[in-house]
Amino acid sequence: MRSRRSCLAVPGSNPRFLEKAQGLPADEVFLDLEDSVAPLAKDEARKNVAAALRGGDWTGKTRVVRVNDVTTRWAYRDVIEVVEGAGDRLDCVMLPKVQSPAQVTWLDTLLTQIEQAMGLPVGRIGIEAQIEDARGLVEIDAIAASSPRLETLVFGPADFMASINMRTLVVGEQPPGYTEGDAYHYILMRILMAARSRGLQAIDGPYLQIKDVDGFRRVAGRSAALGFDGKWVLHPGQIEAANEVYAPSQEDYDHAELVLDAYDYYTTVERRGAVMLGDEMIDEASRKMALVVAAKGRAAGL
Ligand code: GLV
Ligand code: MG
Repeated sequence: MRSRRSCLAVPGSNPRFLEKAQGLPADEVFLDLEDSVAPLAKDEARKNVAAALRGGDWTGKTRVVRVNDVTTRWAYRDVIEVVEGAGDRLDCVMLPKVQSPAQVTWLDTLLTQIEQAMGLPVGRIGIEAQIEDARGLVEIDAIAASSPRLETLVFGPADFMASINMRTLVVGEQPPGYTEGDAYHYILMRILMAARSRGLQAIDGPYLQIKDVDGFRRVAGRSAALGFDGKWVLHPGQIEAANEVYAPSQEDYDHAELVLDAYDYYTTVERRGAVMLGDEMIDEASRKMALVVAAKGRAAGL
C-alpha cells in the first residue's frame, strides 16, 4: 500500500506551484483539474499537468491527477489528455463527487481503453473516489466495490457540507452551534467502514484555515485516531503536521514492536496464547492491533 499521510493539492493552472510541489515532502501530490481551476483555464491546465508529470521529478511521491466529475463536459477530455500524454508517469486518477458505482466503472473502462491504445500495462493506474454528498455516502458500499482499480475513498468536506445544507462557512471545523460531539463522526466512520470492508485506504479532506497549523493538527488528530490513513494538505505548512499526525508516536510504535516480539516468543517457544506483558494482558487480537500500529510506523520510517 502506498503511504498517503499527506496528500498535497496543486492547482493544475499554476505552473509555479506545479514546479514547487516537486520539492515538498508530501507522500502524495494530486494535480488538480477540478475546483481549484477556473472553467476558462481548464484546457491550459490539462496541458500543464501532462507536461509537469512528463518533465518533473516526482521521485518518492504518489502522482495523482484529479479530473472533473462525470457530470461535466470536461471529464472525458481530462482523462484522455492526461493519460495519453503522461499515463506512464501517473499512479492514480482521482474522481470527485462520485455518486454511484457506474461513475467509477465509466472511468475504469475509459482508462482500460487508453491503456490498450497506448500500449500501457492494463489496470496499473488506480482510482481514488471522493465522497462529497449524501448520494455518494448512501451508495458508498457499492462504490467501494465498483472497481479493482480503487485504492482510496476520500472525504470531501467542503462539497459535502454544502450538499447537506450544513449551516457553516468554515471547512473542517464544527458548525457553529454544534457544541457537543463531532458533526463529522458519522460521515467519517461510514467512509472508514466502506473502505476497510474492501481493503481500501480512507483519506480525510482539506482544512481551509491554512495558517492555523494547530487547528489542522487538532482536526487531523481526530480522523487519525479513528484509523484514517492521511489527509489533504493545501499548503506546505500543513505537510509536516500531516506526516506526523498520521504516523504513530515513537512511543506507541516501540510498544507495538515490543508486543509483536513478546507475543511471538510466548506463542512459539512457550506455546501460550494469552500472556502478561508488564501489567497488560495480550492475546492474538492484541497482536493484530500492534500490527496496525507497527505497519504505520514502519511505513513512516520510525
Ligand atoms: C474537496 O474536494 C472538498 O469538497 O472538500
Ligand atoms: Mg470537492
